[in-house]
Amino acid sequence: MATNCERVEDASTRVDGPSEALRGVTRVPGDKSISHRALILAALAHGRSRVTGMNLGRDVLATAMGLTQLGATIRRGDPEAQVEIEGWGAAGPGEPDDVLDAGNSGTTLRCLLGVCAGATGAFAFTGDASLRRRPMGRIVAPLRAMGARIDGRAEGELPPLSVRGTSLTGVAHTLPVASAQVKTALLLAGLRAQGSTSVTEPRPSRDHTERMLVASGVPIGRRSLTATIAGGGRVSAGTRRVPGDLSSAAFILAAAILVPGSDVVLPEVGVNPTRAGILRVLAAMGADIEVEPAGEWGGEPVGALRARSSALRGVVVDETEVPALIDELPILAVVATQAASRTLIRGAGELRVKESDRIATMAAGLSALGAEVEALPDGLSIEGPTPLRPAEVDSEGDHRVAMSLAVAGLIVDGPVTVRGWDCVDTSFPGFLATLGVLRSGSSSRRRP
Ligand code: S3P
Repeated sequence: MATNCERVEDASTRVDGPSEALRGVTRVPGDKSISHRALILAALAHGRSRVTGMNLGRDVLATAMGLTQLGATIRRGDPEAQVEIEGWGAAGPGEPDDVLDAGNSGTTLRCLLGVCAGATGAFAFTGDASLRRRPMGRIVAPLRAMGARIDGRAEGELPPLSVRGTSLTGVAHTLPVASAQVKTALLLAGLRAQGSTSVTEPRPSRDHTERMLVASGVPIGRRSLTATIAGGGRVSAGTRRVPGDLSSAAFILAAAILVPGSDVVLPEVGVNPTRAGILRVLAAMGADIEVEPAGEWGGEPVGALRARSSALRGVVVDETEVPALIDELPILAVVATQAASRTLIRGAGELRVKESDRIATMAAGLSALGAEVEALPDGLSIEGPTPLRPAEVDSEGDHRVAMSLAVAGLIVDGPVTVRGWDCVDTSFPGFLATLGVLRSGSSSRRRP
């Protein structure tokens, strides 16, 4: 039976499985994390920068909008994923005449908080209902230790937040939880602080900020788990080329691994080792995945990924690997339902404070599909292999949950309806079209 993914109404999508084999070459959207940073560093720079291959999802557009409100000029080019930015340079961000709305994007809110804390003026931040529930104390407290004046709901734990820009002093921070958003915000605040600012994490989180700052002429000290920046550095303008997003690629890789007879190639995807935990874990499960290196773009390793359908075994993922695949754990849970033994994910309590409580939402969605899954305080236990069955499931407005459950639908004999589908545009506009290209066995060289 031919698989058909269709939007049955604005807010849900139905996947009619089982899918025919997925075959061909296709691109995934630009890396979301790198796109945020490319825009922010371009805004901090003197002069004109260009970003190519930018992610056009709602999260990155929220950053673009926020930077525009702060005084950067951003022009969309042709193709759309190419943008030009006039930075504000030494002048710093200007006081906006309205609240900055980060929408669903934790990266936007936390990173721009770091940008504004040491600037001149008053700044107010909010977000959607999900973001207004997410913890901000983890960035507010260390910024306050640098002298920042920030207030907000629950003493600054929850948005809306307000910042009165002031002069900052560098601090040696030790983070209780690995977080690239917090690390980035502190390094960006450190750029405007007196003295040096360092951030030590319990485990390495994604290091795109450090790599991009170095590529933009700002020295970063890097020793083991600590990154250090000196105040007063000057960010140079330039062209930043964004590789494909490994987190988006993970959905396509998983689909190819799960759907019999599949063979899919995704060119020019970022394979930074601090992000590539999913490739290591899938390989440990027996997945047939190849990475063909294709050089570095602005200090970021890039490669073509090839995935074929594979027999899988269960695996244990613990806190040492979690930061390198935190966003891929929902789709990994789907893959694990088809592995030949139990998969245990531990040390992933951070999943509870993402766009949704991803432990709860994935446990609920997979259980409805007939998987044997147990929610743990800090992870998931999944018994496999289990045939999945038709059901109506809910994304809870979480883009990664929505796409994970849709991929599960590809191996179900019958319809899977995913409620709350619109959130997919947060990170992967064109997700269904990309699957469609592969179902027809054709190839697309264009980014969705
Ligand atoms: C991101 C960092 C991660 C990740 C998020 C994007 C980033 O969060 O989950 O989707 O771009 O810096 P943490 O800050 O919790 O590591």
